[in-house]
Amino acid sequence: MTAAPTIITILNGPNLNLLGKRQPEIYGRETLADVEAACRDAAEAGGLSIRFLQSNAEHEIIDWIHEAREDSFGIVINPAAYSHTSVAILDALNTFEGPVVEVHISNIHKREAFRHHSYVSQRADGVIAGCGTQGYVLAVSRMLTLFEAASRAG
Ligand code: DQA
Repeated sequence: MTAAPTIITILNGPNLNLLGKRQPEIYGRETLADVEAACRDAAEAGGLSIRFLQSNAEHEIIDWIHEAREDSFGIVINPAAYSHTSVAILDALNTFEGPVVEVHISNIHKREAFRHHSYVSQRADGVIAGCGTQGYVLAVSRMLTLFEAASRAG
């Protein structure tokens, strides 16, 4: 029997490489490296590990979702602008069987109308928006809860 996957894949879409510098009044001053470190600490404290990735290219995010099918318990994803445009990322997530939590740093529902709809939300088991970068740690915490429940269920 193969061991249960213990990786959380955390994916970040376009422009999030500029986190901390990009519109800090909306997205804050923490960098993506800060977010990665906080997620790693939270996951490791609960016995899981993370794979933390960012791309400005849709196809790369899709390929990483396919990789997660092989080795990840769950996916945390901030698809950034692709949330509002990408049926391809939704389709990729629909091939993944584990839990998916969608994160938005800002509250997309309080912003322009074109941000109110997310294709990814049609697949996400949970959605966190408007909690700043803390939303990522909240998503990891949710993954730990789901992992414990799955482990208990055997
Ligand atoms: C975002 C919200 C999106 O509308 C936007 O395109 C982003 C970031 C957020 O984290 O608040 O790039 O996903």
